[in-house]
Amino acid sequence: MTHILLEKKDHVAIATVNRPKALNALNSEVLNDLNTLLDEIAADPEIRVLVLTGSGEKAFVAGADIGEMSTLTRTEGEAFGKKGNDVFRKLETLPIPAIAAVNGYALGGGCELAMACDIRLCSDTAVFGQPETGLGITPGFGGTQRLARLVGPGMAKQLIYSARNIKADEALRIGLCNAVYPAEELMPAAEKLAETIAKNAPIAVRACKKAINEGLEMPMDEAVALEEKLFGSCFETADQKEGMQAFLEKRRHDPYQNR
Ligand code: CAA
Repeated sequence: MTHILLEKKDHVAIATVNRPKALNALNSEVLNDLNTLLDEIAADPEIRVLVLTGSGEKAFVAGADIGEMSTLTRTEGEAFGKKGNDVFRKLETLPIPAIAAVNGYALGGGCELAMACDIRLCSDTAVFGQPETGLGITPGFGGTQRLARLVGPGMAKQLIYSARNIKADEALRIGLCNAVYPAEELMPAAEKLAETIAKNAPIAVRACKKAINEGLEMPMDEAVALEEKLFGSCFETADQKEGMQAFLEKRRHDPYQNR
């Protein structure tokens, strides 16, 4: 991977989109690297949480690469959208949780990348937005869908139609991010949250992600039936037995084994 830096600390992987000269803009190469990263993370049984951030102090990701997009034909545009959507869908459906640590501009494809993560934390320098209509295009890596689901259709339509960027405090207010930190505290906070999640029973955490993501796409009767199946499956795990036994014995549970 040329454009992604990957660090693994215990059960947490920290991946940094690293194309700082272009404010980490997503060209085809970066998308290919993200795809490779996600395959590697999904195949690594030690990794329980992914943290995604951008290199440099200015940007998380400043969007899809405008230079690369500028000469696309209709067919090529559709294919580029599919390329991004396929990678972002792989991120959204990654079995383990992903935390976006949004350390600056998260525009267009950058905002869309953050929205494909489970949780968004950001620095007080972060700027979110879908500026695409100002460039003559629609959001193309899932922005019309995920922004509407996250902040509601009315607010999503206002932001997308107006191409207005918003600062961290407004992103927090509308629910586009979960928490805002002074810039230097963002990564420690993201890593701390990742470690906290990684300490909980991994099979249960993965089941929660599946239940929430897939359940939101279903009628409530089917969604609660999915929850019942996943809930039941936890009772076959060693971690459930240890977790409940430890509670009953009034002791701290042993570290969870992911089995
Ligand atoms: N694509 C390609 N290059 C980009 C880029 C992008 N999205 N964003 C920034 N860059 C490049 C700039 O061209 C510049 O390169 P050079 O030094 O070679 O000129 C470098 O990064 C630094 O950028 P600026 O000089 O513009 O930095 P700034 O601090 O003045 O402005 C900014 C920062 C406001 C983020 C500005 O760079 C900007 O507006 N970028 C574009 C943001 C945008 O419109 N993103 C959406 C793209 S469309 C999309 O993403 C579609 C989709 O949904 C799939």
